Amino acid sequence: KPSGPGLFFWGSIINIIIILAGAIAFIIGFGISGKHSITVTTSTSAGNIGEDGTLSCTFEPDIKLNGIVIQWLKDGVMGLVHEFKGGRDELSDQHEMFRGRTAVFADQVIVGNASLRLKNVRLTDAGTYKCHISTSKGKGHASLEYKTGAFSVPEMNVDYNASSESLRCEAPRWFPQPTVAWASQIDQGANFSEVSNTSFELNSENVTMKVVSVLYNVTINNTYSCMIENNIAKATGDIKVTDSEIKRRSQLQLLSSGVSLCASSFALSWVPMSLSTYLMLR
Ligand SMILES: *[C@@H]1O[C@H](CO)[C@@H](O)[C@H](O)[C@H]1NC(C)=O
Ligand SMILES: *[C@@H]1O[C@H](CO)[C@@H](O)[C@H](O)[C@H]1NC(C)=O
Ligand SMILES: *[C@@H]1O[C@H](CO)[C@@H](O)[C@H](O)[C@H]1NC(C)=O
Ligand SMILES: *[C@@H]1O[C@H](CO)[C@@H](O)[C@H](O)[C@H]1NC(C)=O
Ligand SMILES: *[C@@H]1O[C@H](CO)[C@@H](O)[C@H](O)[C@H]1NC(C)=O
Ligand SMILES: *[C@@H]1O[C@H](CO)[C@@H](O)[C@H](O)[C@H]1NC(C)=O
Ligand SMILES: *[C@@H]1O[C@H](CO)[C@@H](O)[C@H](O)[C@H]1NC(C)=O
Repeated sequence: KPSGPGLFFWGSIINIIIILAGAIAFIIGFGISGKHSITVTTSTSAGNIGEDGTLSCTFEPDIKLNGIVIQWLKDGVMGLVHEFKGGRDELSDQHEMFRGRTAVFADQVIVGNASLRLKNVRLTDAGTYKCHISTSKGKGHASLEYKTGAFSVPEMNVDYNASSESLRCEAPRWFPQPTVAWASQIDQGANFSEVSNTSFELNSENVTMKVVSVLYNVTINNTYSCMIENNIAKATGDIKVTDSEIKRRSQLQLLSSGVSLCASSFALSWVPMSLSTYLMLR
């Protein structure tokens, strides 16, 4: 009957064997799976119907371009949105709704940019997309929520046709139908809904609408803001009429991203514009 130090000795050997076996299994398992995971990061964004959009995805860069595989998938869609493999596009499994409309920034893949360019964004492009990356370092994926709609910055003008001194705020394309509110610098917190009139006019493609809002009884030397907002974007147009000039500025912000995206063609600083008829505002 084994006893005392003998039992302790055999027990230690068995423990060591178990530990070694576990370590070997771990090493073999790691070797078979071959790769560990890499970091992939997406950011939520919104697409403007009829324009080109970008679905943003980045990953840990890898110098072996030929080993990088980028796959874009969309929930509920069979096949791929886009595949980039061995340094070029591989589109044999692409779903037809994306045919001819997608591209990765091929020269940016090497620095870890897997973002997808989507041409001529459609309302039906909204949904959950997945960005799958495989490199010689490992694999990873991330999802993003893509919203689609229409948004545009308003143009601010003095409405010369109205019977009282009025301002006109006009934005060509919005969808879904936004809310429109006015504010002024002098009467902060005032409710202008009784002295304004907003209308929505369907554009010819029967989806987006033109937004026109007129604010009556405005005064000189005051700054008025027209704020247009839906679940995707918020746009603001400001106008100030003084004795000598009309100043305007506008801004567009995408709400889903949380990042303020100023429309590239619109300056945030005041843009003075001289208009001969400004004197109608006394
Ligand atoms: C990826 O590259 C494109 C094209 O240069 C650029 O517009 C985009 O901002 C880049 N994305 C990221 C996340 O760096
Ligand atoms: C003012 O009225 C004229 C003629 O009715 C029209 O052509 C013009 O577009 C109107 N301007 C605005 C800003 O509504
Ligand atoms: C402004 O007043 C109208 C009714 O006159 C009301 O329906 C609306 O909610 C008010 N808006 C704000 C922001 O208080
Ligand atoms: C504009 O002001 C005038 C006089 O103060 C008033 O009679 C008129 O009803 C106002 N118009 C609107 C649309 O509130
Ligand atoms: C608001 O505008 C619409 C169309 O421009 C017009 O038919 C309507 O009479 C206006 N309402 C008021 C209260 O001014
Ligand atoms: C928009 O709707 C109108 C009326 O419903 C229709 O006549 C027209 O063909 C439609 N346009 C488009 C581009 O679908
Ligand atoms: C507007 O402001 C200018 C300069 O600040 C001033 O000279 C002018 O009298 C003001 N006009 C009115 C109507 O308040």
